[in-house]
Amino acid sequence: MMTQRRDGVLRELGLAPLWKLRVPPAAAAPAGAAELSPAAATAATDAAPADAGRAAAIAVLDWDELRRSVAECRACELCRTRRQAVLGVGDAQADWLFVGEGPGAEEDEKGEPFVGQAGRLLDAMLAAIDLQRGKGVYIANAVKCRPPDNRTPLPEEISACRPYLERQIELLAPRLIVALGRPAAQALLAREVKIAALRGSLQDYRGVPLVVSYHPAYLLRTPSDKAKAWEDLCFARATFRQSDQPAAP
Ligand code: URA
Repeated sequence: MMTQRRDGVLRELGLAPLWKLRVPPAAAAPAGAAELSPAAATAATDAAPADAGRAAAIAVLDWDELRRSVAECRACELCRTRRQAVLGVGDAQADWLFVGEGPGAEEDEKGEPFVGQAGRLLDAMLAAIDLQRGKGVYIANAVKCRPPDNRTPLPEEISACRPYLERQIELLAPRLIVALGRPAAQALLAREVKIAALRGSLQDYRGVPLVVSYHPAYLLRTPSDKAKAWEDLCFARATFRQSDQPAAP
């Protein structure tokens, strides 16, 4: 039954013939594969660190305080053009955390991450590994306010928003994080990265296993890379299952 549902989802993703992995993801990742978007190449996150006092204050907020603080935030220019800040959505006890780039027009309007076209693909990707938005899954973004014209968030915007992402992760205490696209990976790793170089290898966010993959919007533009995203999801699921195993004596 579950297999039938997954086959349906994989067909929808255009992945049906590739659902069985023949090679481990690390071996399958070609050097220099296409990145999230040409604009993403500019998104280095190593700008000046966010004000330490502000970060320390955010680091002790509970969920309600965090939601209020994000809603009122004026720490970067994105507050001028947003309709509303978008904190995240899902289960506060989630084991899985997916991190995207930033809200788009529909997210800005509805106040929830990934509700547009890319969100529909993300939901299909979650279903492909038997996950569902809101059920053991939390979805957040590197920046909580929509960048104008959906441009890639600037390094200083990612830095200004990082204390919020850090606090979310601390409160959630997920067992696995999946970074969707380069800005998300850069926000989590606090350094410049290339998706092609990181995917297929396990990264670490403060002791939490971190898997890096492509952003759903990139996959909509580049369907030929959906097979790689499927490999990454399988890698994430295998990592998650492994983290449940008791350590060998
Ligand atoms: N893209 C993202 O990175 N996040 C969203 O919430 C929507 C689109």
